[in-house]
Amino acid sequence: MAAGKGTRLKSKHPKVLHEVGGKPILAHVIATAAKIVAPRDIFVIIGHESARVRETLGGTGVNFVIQAEQRGTGHALMVAREALAPYDQVIVLSGDAPLITPETIKHLSAFHATQGATMTLLSAEFAIPFGYGRVLRKSPRSPEVRAIIEERSANSAQRKIREINSGFYVFSVPALYALIGQLSTENTHREYYLTDMAGIFHRARKKVVAFKTADADEVLGTNTRTEIVDLDARLRLAKCRELMAEGVTIFYPEACVIDADVVVGADTVIEPFVQLLGKTKIGSDCRICSYSVLKDSEVADGVVINPLTVTDNAQIGAGAIVGPYSRLRPGSEIGENARVGNFVETKKMRLGRGSKAPHLTYLGDAEIGEGVNVGAGTITCNYDGVHKHKTVIEDGVFVGSNSTLVAPLKIGHGAYIAAASCITENVPADALALGRARQTAKEGWATSKRAGRPNSEKRS
Ligand code: UD1
Ligand code: CA
Repeated sequence: MAAGKGTRLKSKHPKVLHEVGGKPILAHVIATAAKIVAPRDIFVIIGHESARVRETLGGTGVNFVIQAEQRGTGHALMVAREALAPYDQVIVLSGDAPLITPETIKHLSAFHATQGATMTLLSAEFAIPFGYGRVLRKSPRSPEVRAIIEERSANSAQRKIREINSGFYVFSVPALYALIGQLSTENTHREYYLTDMAGIFHRARKKVVAFKTADADEVLGTNTRTEIVDLDARLRLAKCRELMAEGVTIFYPEACVIDADVVVGADTVIEPFVQLLGKTKIGSDCRICSYSVLKDSEVADGVVINPLTVTDNAQIGAGAIVGPYSRLRPGSEIGENARVGNFVETKKMRLGRGSKAPHLTYLGDAEIGEGVNVGAGTITCNYDGVHKHKTVIEDGVFVGSNSTLVAPLKIGHGAYIAAASCITENVPADALALGRARQTAKEGWATSKRAGRPNSEKRS
């Protein structure tokens, strides 16, 4: 069930697309469901902003059922009637509770089978049950349930019950649709509550049971911003703990943001306030310093990423040193033992083994060989306003500071580029290229100026 608006978030975006742990809330639930049944047997009920939800999660291969008007969780299941007709049993998951694990769902489903129940709900014991539906058991020890009572319909005695309904259920499909017509909207929200099926089945002498999970945290919902942030923190910390168990040192893990799919090798040290996002892979024996944000990037072994480095779709070879303040944009490949320093921006380029671009440089659409030194202030002029052009710098080239390299351009191996040159033509191997005006010095000029005498404009 993922059709709701999420009124309590006060958001214009659908609740299930809000992110925890770096991906949409609903993506977590679908991933868990896909570990139990094939995607073709998963039906996601969507409604509020359904086109956006479908677009975001269509890649998972699941089916979508549209609940155009969201008239409650019971109504969500009414809408799914045709889709579920071929099935005997349905497991209902709440699209807004992303921490649920496949193991717990399997236990729930097994309990449903051994109890021979018509409806089985997953319950949990909460110290503060406020806001959740409460489970009314036949008797305290009995697995059987008389009813689920929603917070706003509960009397003060019922509000003291700390066993809550998690929003996860198993139903017999034929029994559900035989009696779902008995649901009514006579309640505070004028909605069809799926939870009322417990009472309906109970009165029809069909068995309703509750399976209480040992890990209450798994069923936490994301109804408010505070809950979203809380779950995000739990997921992040769990990821850090997992990496630490695998031999990674993470200082101040509460301040690091590491996405679920990130891989980090043993003996790598991650300093406070680092973000490792998307499909980032870090080798072993690396040091990722504070305030660096690495997205979808691959970092080989023994790399140092100095503070405040930002990378996106970049590859960094073993032993390289990057940063502080480097920006590696998509398609940047930094070779083994290469060095990229402060205020260097790279894009779609390869920097060969052992080459250096230590400061203040832009290298885009470039192929740079091994052992090249790129001086401070070097710019590859890759864009003519219409097209992008390539700069090739062969092995062993020395590019003097403040050089402007106007692409398309090839600088042959071993060549020297004099500082402050504007290079517009190919440079042969081992040549010295100068592309700047010759310096002039006008002797006595300053003295004359200070004395108030006119300086002649004549060139010396
Ligand atoms: C629901 C339960 C409550 C339980 C809690 C656990 C009901 C009436 N109450 O309350 O007993 O303790 O979950 O988290 O079910 N949805 C639809 N269509 C709708 C309405 C909701 O698909 O018309 C979806 C929502 O997107 C959400 C899920 O169903 O993913 C639960 O809805 P929500 O409004 O969050 O229910 P709660 O008030 O949390
Ligand atoms: Ca909820």
